[in-house]
Formats: sequence, structure tokens, C-alpha cells
Amino acid sequence: AGRPILIQGPMPIEAEKFAQKLEKVKIEKSGTFIFYKGKVNNYPVIVVKTGKGMENTAAATAVAIEKYNPIAIINQGTSGGHDPDLNVHDIVLGKKTTNIGSLKTGNIEENHGMDPTIWKPMDLMASEGSGSDPNAEKIRYYEGDQGLLEAANAVKDKYTNGRVVEGIIGSADVWNNEVDRIKWFHTNYGTSVEEMEGAAAAQIAEAYDVAFLGIRILSNNKTNGGKYDPNTAAANQDYVYEVVKKYIATI
Ligand code: 5AD
Repeated sequence: AGRPILIQGPMPIEAEKFAQKLEKVKIEKSGTFIFYKGKVNNYPVIVVKTGKGMENTAAATAVAIEKYNPIAIINQGTSGGHDPDLNVHDIVLGKKTTNIGSLKTGNIEENHGMDPTIWKPMDLMASEGSGSDPNAEKIRYYEGDQGLLEAANAVKDKYTNGRVVEGIIGSADVWNNEVDRIKWFHTNYGTSVEEMEGAAAAQIAEAYDVAFLGIRILSNNKTNGGKYDPNTAAANQDYVYEVVKKYIATI
């Protein structure tokens, strides 16, 4: 058998449905991360319940790469819309994923308040030194893997609860409910959705040169009144399962 495909889900409702689809499952644990090692169509697939947030996800990604040597990583789960054209149940394929929590504030003196609208992006990977790198204030985008994107686009029609579109996924250990702030990210970063894991996994996957794609379903969208629907988590796993079967057929 070849190198496994790794499917990441943060919360139980975002990982366990896919884990139940695996054949011949063995469970292994590292720290708080739970790995379900099994097969899809006789090909090795590992589902990992990472827990929420950037730190859990980065660590779970590094552990998985060192332990299991995956050929590809899909980070999937729910998200909040930044694009008013996207509705709850639509799915975003992360053509790009970016960290929207890595920012440098303006210089404002005491008693002059706070102004998040002048915060600048801070590229965590730009400089190894003192911060003199001119690229340090550029937005870093992690590119979705072409082969994974092709597999995901090829099975779009199997998803009938909404649309499947390519877009930009923004991640941070923050849940934004301020609509003007959401709009600021949508305008300045081009984000389609936000969540709390994708960019952490993408950053570590890139460090090890492993193919990566984020696949995120909208469970809520503040910009158009889309109310939170937890059933989206299961629907996304059903779609990602189709993506994985297609990808296996191409490798
Ligand atoms: N903002 C941030 N995270 C969200 N999630 C779903 N919607 C949002 C949102 N609007 C996901 C995160 C995290 C959990 C809180 O749900 O990825 O795992």
C-alpha cells in the first residue's frame, strides 16, 4: 500500500462521521490527538481528530507527518462566511489558505486608543532575523495542491446541498462576529470564509513539502444572516469522502 491520505477534523462532529466510513480501523493516540487508521477502497486513509485551533492543528500535523508520512493532507470542517454571496451549506475549496491572526498593530501612543483598521499582515515565515525583511508585512498565502483541487472539482456534482466553489480560507484562533471586521478581511485578504485551523496545517504541510488542501463548509455567515447549522459538519465529510475516493483513483 502507498503513503496514506490524512483527513483532519477539529471537533468530534467534524471527524467522527468520516472515521466511521473507514474500513479496518485501528485507533492510535498522541497527546490529545486521536488517529483513526483505516482504508478507503483498500487504500490507507487516516482520519485525525485534532481538537480546535491553530496550535492543536499544527502539532497534530507535524506528529502525523513524522509518524505516518502522508502523501496528502486535507484539513476540513465548518467555517463562517466572509463572502455575502456564499450561503450556509456551500463548500469552499481552499485555492489558498492564509493566517488572519498574525498581525502587527499601528504605533499609537497612550490614551490615543486602538485601531484595528490599520493593522498590517505579519508573515510568520518571511524573516528568520530581526524583522528587516521588506516581505514581512505581506500576506502569506499557502497554495492548495493542484491534484487535490482537481479531484475535488471532479466530484462537485455529487454534492447537492449547496455549491462547491474555489476560494480563500482565513484562519486564526479568533471567531469574528463584527461584520465590519469580516468585511475588512474579505476586502484586504480576499477571504471567502474563516475558521480556526487550516492555515496552521497548511504552514506545517508546506514545511515538509506535503500536498495540502483545505475544504470548508459554511456553517454560518454573519454577512448575509446565515444562521449556524451544525448539520453542515456531516455534509462536508460526505463530500470530502467523495474527494478522497476520486484522489485515490488518480494516484
Ligand atoms: N469563525 C471561526 N471559526 C469557525 N468555525 C465555524 N465557524 C466559524 C467562524 N465563524 C469552526 C472553527 C473551530 C470551531 C469553533 O468551528 O474552525 O474549529
